[in-house]
Amino acid sequence: MISNKIENGINGNIKIPSDKSISHRSIIIPSISNGISEINNLLMSDDVIHTLEAFKALGVKILMENKRIIIFGKGLNSLSKSKKNIYLGNSGTSARLLTGLLASQNFDSILEGDISLSSRPMNRIVDPLKLMGAKFNNSSDTLPLEIIGTELINKNIEIEIPSAQIKSGLLLAAINTLGVSKIIEKNITRDHTENMLLSFGADIKIKKNGTETSIIINGKKELKANDIEVPSDLSSSAFFIVAALINSGSKISMKNININPTRDGILKALKKMGAKIEIKNQRNLSGEIVADIYVEYSTLYGCELDAEMAKLMIDEYPILSIAAAFAKGPSLFRGLKELRVKESDRLELIKLNLNKCGCNCEIINDDLLIKPAEFYNTLDNNIRTDFDHRIAMSFAIMGSKLGNLKIENSNSINTSFPNFVDIYNESGGNIL
Ligand code: S3P
Repeated sequence: MISNKIENGINGNIKIPSDKSISHRSIIIPSISNGISEINNLLMSDDVIHTLEAFKALGVKILMENKRIIIFGKGLNSLSKSKKNIYLGNSGTSARLLTGLLASQNFDSILEGDISLSSRPMNRIVDPLKLMGAKFNNSSDTLPLEIIGTELINKNIEIEIPSAQIKSGLLLAAINTLGVSKIIEKNITRDHTENMLLSFGADIKIKKNGTETSIIINGKKELKANDIEVPSDLSSSAFFIVAALINSGSKISMKNININPTRDGILKALKKMGAKIEIKNQRNLSGEIVADIYVEYSTLYGCELDAEMAKLMIDEYPILSIAAAFAKGPSLFRGLKELRVKESDRLELIKLNLNKCGCNCEIINDDLLIKPAEFYNTLDNNIRTDFDHRIAMSFAIMGSKLGNLKIENSNSINTSFPNFVDIYNESGGNIL
């Protein structure tokens, strides 16, 4: 696709799609609960559809009526062996969470993914699961992964890497393991799995000590079906927030956005840069905090963000980097090692593509230094995305200022935001 300059900013009430992280969990948890759960506003993107198909293959009855999904759960041990390998496309969340869940089943499973997912590390979840007695038939750190289902042993496990996917995989293993397990995370990461397990009646306790969280799970207690209303995705809204901030004449609102405090770093970072962002009408929706967000064109200033911030906004660095490219003064974002193992090596692609756009960007160890240009002069308008949805959407927003940016392999956008181009163009964007 080609992203062109826009003249009058972006405007109006933007309908942001449902949250991807919560949508995955809205299929997984009801599928292992007892009873019928009704899920409203599930995100129908490629990644989530792979999770949905996986659970159908594992024998769960799931009915789909427009945006309403009905899941007939039959309990913790009701899944059955999939007749074929479980293909998870591009979805790292499905791969890590399903590895934890399937490790404790009484059947074997094989997980597969596309080229990008098949190059992403799996030992981060496989190794801690092995401490619980999980068995795998794998010789490398990547998919395909053969999981040999077995009865697991309750353990206390400390997670070193800041990752909600690892934590969630372990929680889904512990929930089906006899006795009390303790998952200790040293860093704050998104807590949607804990929130949802609690609302499904799981016997878990959460203890916080500074940035360390201990989750104590009394396993093999059946979960009770519940209905879920999936809120809109803050990560998807971030593309529109930045588009509005950097294009003069912009004024937008977005309703019902999940602003879970373990995920809201992007709002704090942009406000620190001078963004005019207002959060109104904060309320609770199915155990998550949601609010309406109002944004208008603002003068942004470069800023420094420490590594702690990265845990609260790990998916937002590509689009934050675009905001930084239009700020006054340089920005330094620290502690971004995890960006190297996302859908692409995001650290390299941010640097490469910003440099193509004429923006001075350097990687210093695991930090990103962005020095905005006074006037942009595109050196190479072919934006390399390596099939990464967030790189594609971020540079589409860059195109709103530079014009004529060719975003390669932009179909990847379907993994999280299938109607991105339509919504963007309706609000004043110009993508061909
Ligand atoms: C996710 C967790 C994050 C994030 C991903 C979704 C989740 O990954 O990057 O897009 O739904 O748990 P890590 O937990 O590995 O950082």
